[in-house]
Amino acid sequence: MQRLLMVFRRVIRTVPPALACASVLFCGLARAENQPSVPYVPTPQAVVDRMLDMAKVTAQDYLIDLGSGDGRIVVTAAKKFGARGFGVDLNPVRIDEANANARKNGVTDKVAFYQRNLFETDLSQATVITMYLLPRVNLELRPKLLELKPGTRLVSHDFDMGDWKADVSVRMDAADKFSGAGGDSDLYFWVVPAKTAGGWRSQFPVSGKPQTYEFMFEQKYQLVSGTVQVNGRPVKIPDAKLRGAQLTFSFTAEVNGAPVKHEFSGRVDGGRIIGQAALSGSRLTARVEWIAERAARVAGMEAIH
Ligand SMILES: C[S@@+](CC[C@H](N)C(=O)[O-])C[C@H]1O[C@@H](n2cnc3c(N)ncnc32)[C@H](O)[C@@H]1O
Repeated sequence: MQRLLMVFRRVIRTVPPALACASVLFCGLARAENQPSVPYVPTPQAVVDRMLDMAKVTAQDYLIDLGSGDGRIVVTAAKKFGARGFGVDLNPVRIDEANANARKNGVTDKVAFYQRNLFETDLSQATVITMYLLPRVNLELRPKLLELKPGTRLVSHDFDMGDWKADVSVRMDAADKFSGAGGDSDLYFWVVPAKTAGGWRSQFPVSGKPQTYEFMFEQKYQLVSGTVQVNGRPVKIPDAKLRGAQLTFSFTAEVNGAPVKHEFSGRVDGGRIIGQAALSGSRLTARVEWIAERAARVAGMEAIH
């Protein structure tokens, strides 16, 4: 069985998911109603610890493990960091094991385990989500994960999320993987990005005169690029960065006849971005409160790259 799992893992890492599915016994179960989409393979404890470190779990976190097996990830998060959370698994044997694990470790006040399909689980409470699933399952989950609160942290053991590239990935030795057969583990970490694409408009005084800024952002997952229009002139934004809801970018544009460096930082909060702008030029240095609001049209501007 262990050997089969190792071959299984190698196959699904190296061939397209559809082909892997056709080639592997377990995948026959994937389409069946409320049957596990993934076989049970526990994450080694050292890998669990690293996953929780990657997500920087604290007592303020609420962690959900999708396909929680014997509950080790949720139980470790509670015992080591004081986090609360729950796990879901379709297999009732795993739920019994997870509850016993929680009792043994004295964390039943912080964690719970539910026999439930991960695709039908409300994830809105989560600040951290962990997974050890399969590439195809990750891809099926991806739209739901992208709808989570911006800033929600995700960690996946061994499998990525297709073209949603991880913010951080690491490979580590996992000597006790596959019941001691050993191997390595890949870990992937993402922060759910805020929806930033589109037009935004803001106005604030610069040297006492109201100045309008119109922004157009393009976005692919956490990667954002954009253009700003200042006094009728489009200027490329070269360095936009989005982490969860936190957006930062800078550009230099002419204002009141002189070049001014603008450094913006703010939180994207639905239809608003609220933050601060630092302005510096030969004639001015200022820090101003900045609010941008969504704008359906921004001077017919296209983002330039
Ligand atoms: C690879 S194991 C990972 C267990 C645990 N998260 C860990 O890392 O040790 C995957 C688990 O997902 C469960 N599972 C598979 N498909 C599921 C589904 N659709 N809903 C809930 N659980 C599922 C399996 O029963 C199995 O226990």
